[in-house]
Amino acid sequence: MSLEEMKDLKLDEKYRQLETKEVKGILLTKITSDNWDKIWNFQARPDDLLIASYAKAGTTWTQEIVDMIQNDGDVQKCQRANTYDRQPFIEWSLPPPLNSGLDLANKMPSPRTLKTHLPVHMLPPSFWKENSKIIYVARNAKDCLVSYYHFSRMNKMVPDPGTWEEYVETFKAGKVLWGSWYDHVKGWWEAKDQHRILYLFYEDMKEDPKREIQKILKFLEKDSSEEVLNKIIYNTSFDVMKQNPMANYTTLPSSIMDHSISPFMRKGMPGDWKNYFTVAQNEEFDRDYQKKMAGSTLTFRTEI
Ligand code: A3P
Repeated sequence: MSLEEMKDLKLDEKYRQLETKEVKGILLTKITSDNWDKIWNFQARPDDLLIASYAKAGTTWTQEIVDMIQNDGDVQKCQRANTYDRQPFIEWSLPPPLNSGLDLANKMPSPRTLKTHLPVHMLPPSFWKENSKIIYVARNAKDCLVSYYHFSRMNKMVPDPGTWEEYVETFKAGKVLWGSWYDHVKGWWEAKDQHRILYLFYEDMKEDPKREIQKILKFLEKDSSEEVLNKIIYNTSFDVMKQNPMANYTTLPSSIMDHSISPFMRKGMPGDWKNYFTVAQNEEFDRDYQKKMAGSTLTFRTEI
C-alpha cells in the first residue's frame, strides 16, 4: 500500500510520531534503525545514480532536475509518480503495509536514481564498491536549520522540533534525524575527490540554475538542446514545482504532512534565516560554527 492509498484511512499513532534511535551515534527514526542491517547491506549497482544530501538542502529540487534530464525534458513522463516513488529514499523505512525505500529500490529496474540523507560514513559500502555516481547537494547551515524547523512542524513522521529557541540548540548539537549538519557536509566534502561525486550548492543553483544544470548534464554524460535545457530550468523553478503535485508532497495525507502548518515548498530562498535568527542567536551560532568548521576548506554563502 502506498502512502497516498492511506489517505482515507485514519492513521494509527505509530505511523505518525515515529520514535528515534541512534545508529553509530546518528539519530534515525526507530524503524530505520531497526532495519539497519538490511540498509547497510543494500546492493548498489554500477549504473545507479545516488542523490545525497543533508535534510532540507534542496534534495527534491535536485531530484526533479535529474529526472527531467533523464527524460529529456518530458514533463508528462516526470509526472508519472511522486518523487519518492520515482527515486526511492533508501533508508526511509515505514511500517507495513507501506512501501519502504529499500523495497522500492530493490524492485526497481536499472538504471535507478536513488536518494539518501545518510552521512558519508553510513552509506552502504556497495555504493563505493560499485563506483556508482553520486550527486551531493549542500545548503548553508542557517537556511537548512530554518527549513528543517518548519518541516519538522508540518511532518508528523519526524520528531517535533519544540520551540524555535529549543530547535536552534537541537540543530547545533546535531540531535536531529541524520545527525550533525556540520559533520555531514564536511564528511561528503572530504569524500568528493576520491569518488565519482558531484558536490553542488543550493545557493549556486538558485543563483544560476542553467550553469548548475549544465554541470549535472556533464556529470551524467548527457547532452541537451537549448530548448530542452530551458524547459528543465522552467519546470524545476520553485514556482512551477510548488504547483506540481508529483513533486510538492501534497498527495500525502494531511495526517502525515500538514501543509497548512507550513508547505513543503515553503520559500525556496537563500537568506530566509534573517527572518528568524535574533542578533544574539546569530552571533552565538557564528561562534559555534567557526569551531565546528575549523580546518575545513568548505565554505558556504548565507545569502546571494
Ligand atoms: P525552504 O523550506 O527554505 O523553502 P529538501 O527537498 O532537501 O527537503 O529541501 C526542501 C527545501 O528546498 C525547501 O526549502 C524547499 O522550498 C526548497 N525547494 C524545493 N524545490 C525548490 C526549487 N525548485 N527551487 C528552490 N528551492 C526549492
